[in-house]
Amino acid sequence: MSLFQELVRPNVRAMDPYAAIVPFEVLSRRLGRDPSTIIKLDANENPYGPSPRVRERLAQFPYYHIYPDPQQEALRAALSEYVHVPADHIFVGHGADEIIDLLCRLFLRPGDAIINAPPTFGMYEFDAQVSGGEVVNVWRDEHFRVDVAGLVEAVAQVNGDGENRAKLLFLTTPNNPDGSVLDPDALRVLLELPVMVVVDEAYFEFSDQASFVPWVLERENLIVLRTFAKWAGLAGLRLGYGVFPLWVMDYLWRIKQPYNVNVAATVAGLTALEDRAYYEPILQAIKEERERLYRALQSISYLHPYPSQGNFILVRVEGRSARELQQALAQEGILVRYFDKPGLHNSLRISVGKPEHTDALVAVLREFER
Ligand SMILES: Cc1ncc(COP(=O)(O)O)c(C=O)c1O
Repeated sequence: MSLFQELVRPNVRAMDPYAAIVPFEVLSRRLGRDPSTIIKLDANENPYGPSPRVRERLAQFPYYHIYPDPQQEALRAALSEYVHVPADHIFVGHGADEIIDLLCRLFLRPGDAIINAPPTFGMYEFDAQVSGGEVVNVWRDEHFRVDVAGLVEAVAQVNGDGENRAKLLFLTTPNNPDGSVLDPDALRVLLELPVMVVVDEAYFEFSDQASFVPWVLERENLIVLRTFAKWAGLAGLRLGYGVFPLWVMDYLWRIKQPYNVNVAATVAGLTALEDRAYYEPILQAIKEERERLYRALQSISYLHPYPSQGNFILVRVEGRSARELQQALAQEGILVRYFDKPGLHNSLRISVGKPEHTDALVAVLREFER
């Protein structure tokens, strides 16, 4: 290693290189298909995309040459009306991902820890590592329920030397990749711990569970994250937000990049919130399609789907290779997510698409029953 390489922070040098996701256009070229013919069910995006009014406002917006409002006053006011908490509790980010990174930077010193409940969304672990944090994993059970006693024990162990090194506990509901929801009683217990509890509700709009947002107003250590990526079809524009205790807001304002949220995302987010009547039937259609997809997957002999409250379904593959299935689907232009790691062996995660996407997917999967 060169002298200069040694200048890089040791925790970053120790990290595995990022496994870059192949861009959509490159993948379509590789598969020899036009992007418009690809059925993309691998990243829990909204196949209907943004509303026509969002597209129109983006096309007509005259001020792309002006820097955005660092405080996102208009968007936070609209969000306040959407989530029913005062705007001074709301922080907006360049995707919920940015906020996860900011939280790690705010709370973690090298050697501090996050408590993670895998299998779950990978960014908590990633951002903790970038900040030099340790990741303490407390695995979910076979139904993907969080292990409350295990989480309590993990915090006690990490804090055993009296230093309170356990800083952040991440809980996702509905959980990615399986779509199960967090039991409010479990959260009540976990909120008694001396850690910041981050509840990630990225898929809230697809679930029937009540939001934990109102709880934030009554607690000092609860944060709830949300995004426009899924329900509003704005994954590519990067727009997320969170609801925070006021004391945390105070610190977030100190460390945020002034122009973290760009004007296009702001225009799109504001318009999507205005255009909720357009989105409602789409969200309903996705939820209904999820149930149809679930039943279809259940009827395939070698698949074991898990019930989901998200816009995706996790499927355990039995008696054949999930990897080969994923590749066979890709050859037909259907992309799904493959997992083979602790707690997620030989599995696929399939995002809910349009009805014709389900039909095409199921037709290929049925071929393998023969
Ligand atoms: C649980 C969870 N949280 C957050 C995100 C990222 O949200 P955003 O696109 O707003 O960064 C995702 C994206 O897949 C997710 O699954």
